[in-house]
Order: sequence, then C-alpha cells, then structure tokens
Amino acid sequence: MTFARAQLDEILHRLFIDASATSLRDEDRRKSDEMAGLLVEVATAVARRSTKSELVLADAAAGKAYVGLLAAELILAPRGQPARVRVIEREPARVAACRDAIARLRAPGVAVEVVAANVEDAAAWPTEPDLVVALHACGPASDAIIDQVLAVQARMLLLVPCCTSKDVAAAALAQQRAEQLGLPRHAEVRRRFIQSIVDAERTLRLEAAGWQTTVVNFVAPTVTPHNLLWRAERVGEPGRMAEAAERLARLRDAG
Ligand SMILES: C[S@@+](CC[C@H](N)C(=O)[O-])C[C@H]1O[C@@H](n2cnc3c(N)ncnc32)[C@H](O)[C@@H]1O
Repeated sequence: MTFARAQLDEILHRLFIDASATSLRDEDRRKSDEMAGLLVEVATAVARRSTKSELVLADAAAGKAYVGLLAAELILAPRGQPARVRVIEREPARVAACRDAIARLRAPGVAVEVVAANVEDAAAWPTEPDLVVALHACGPASDAIIDQVLAVQARMLLLVPCCTSKDVAAAALAQQRAEQLGLPRHAEVRRRFIQSIVDAERTLRLEAAGWQTTVVNFVAPTVTPHNLLWRAERVGEPGRMAEAAERLARLRDAG
C-alpha cells in the first residue's frame, strides 16, 4: 500500500493549515514525506489484525496527531469496521489544534478521543490497544511509552524516538560505560555511542518482555535525522525473551 503525496498534502492542508494560507510550508511538506513512510507501517500493522471487533489505535506524544488523524481517514475508515483512535498529548495548544482538526476530519465510523495527559499517566491509556504509534517521542517520553505499552498489553508498537536528552535513563548508563571503556569526551564521538546504548537498551527491554522487535529506517535521513522506527509485536516467545533478558542484564551490569 502506498499513499499519494497529493492526497497527504490535501489532508494536512485541510486539517492543520490556516485557511488563509494557500500552500504548505517546507516543514509541512517534510511532514507529508514522513507520513507517507509511517502510514505504510500503520496500514501493514492494521492489516495484520483480522478482528471484527473495534480496532483501537493510540497515538502517543501525538502533537497535533498527524499520525492518528491521517490513519483514521486513510486506513481505519476505509476498512468499514468499528475503530477508535486515542490521542495522548500533554501540551494544551497542540491538544486544542488536534480537537480543532477533528471537526474537518473525514473518517466516518472512527471515534477519535483526545486525552490531555502525560504519557506516564496510566489512566490516559486504553486497555489492550491493537496498535500504539508514537512519532518523534522526545527524550524520556519514548521510555515512558514503552513502559505503558507493556503495562496495558498493547499488541503492536510503532515507535520513532526523537532527541536523547540527559533525562533518558539509559543515557546515564551509557556515560558510565563510555568512561569504563576510556572513550574520549569529544561530544560528536560520544553522541553516537550514547545513542547506540540507548537504542540497544530499548530494543532489549521490548524483546525481554516478549516483543519481537525490528528496527528500520522508515524514511530517508534527508527527511528527518530521527528516522529509526521500532516495529514491535507482542509474541511472548520464551527463547527470544530469555536471550534478550540475558543481554539486557549484561548491558546494564556496569561491573
Ligand atoms: C517532537 S513532537 C512530535 C509530535 C507528533 N508526534 C509529530 O510527529 O508530529 C513531541 C510531542 O510529544 C509531546 N510530549 C513530550 N513528552 C510528553 C509526555 N511525557 N506526555 C505527553 N506528551 C509528551 C510534546 O508536547 C510534543 O507535542
């Protein structure tokens, strides 16, 4: 399945651009490119759920909920089966922009609910959602989303982390490891190492909890430098879980 740029541009313009602005800005076009890549992933994940009961998608750290709303219109509504989108976002202005956009959404049969909350708040999450999507979840939000996805027993996750700040728990572990190995303190040398440890810790945490995880580039790095997607599905395969748990313990054991 592919999504035509012209169609994505039209929907983004209708939902999010001020009516007086005649065309998309460069940043909106980049968003359109990102959507083209990510919506293919969402469509593939949704197609794997054959259930006729209500399909529940959560868009976490959603911003204005580009992903959740475009998925509602282009993927969920055309299925012709009941579906619900839960948008979770803490920033009031973005929550308001999302609610405003819903009025212009063309997604019959899809209920969209917007929750103004921190993703760390367990009450904000639906129970056992079929799919959780988080695009550019910044810093510790990615870890909080992984924690909640495990807690609410979601079935699939599409996670694109964003910047890695000092607030990310595994960043401290990575700094400790860097010192042990004698890595130089040059920021550009350290940055890649820190990111690799943070990425590894997230991957192993998912795998150890029973989530089969693949990490792929979902768009070219020219579209966004934060272009790594964690595509994960809850399978609970014991051998894979045990191996990941052992690797995670080794990673965390600062000796
Ligand atoms: C980089 S933006 C990405 C927004 C959107 N997913 C997108 O790609 O357009 C990150 C969003 O996550 C939200 N956010 C960050 N930490 C959060 C948290 N702990 N709980 C809820 N929202 C959070 C921010 O307010 C912001 O809207």
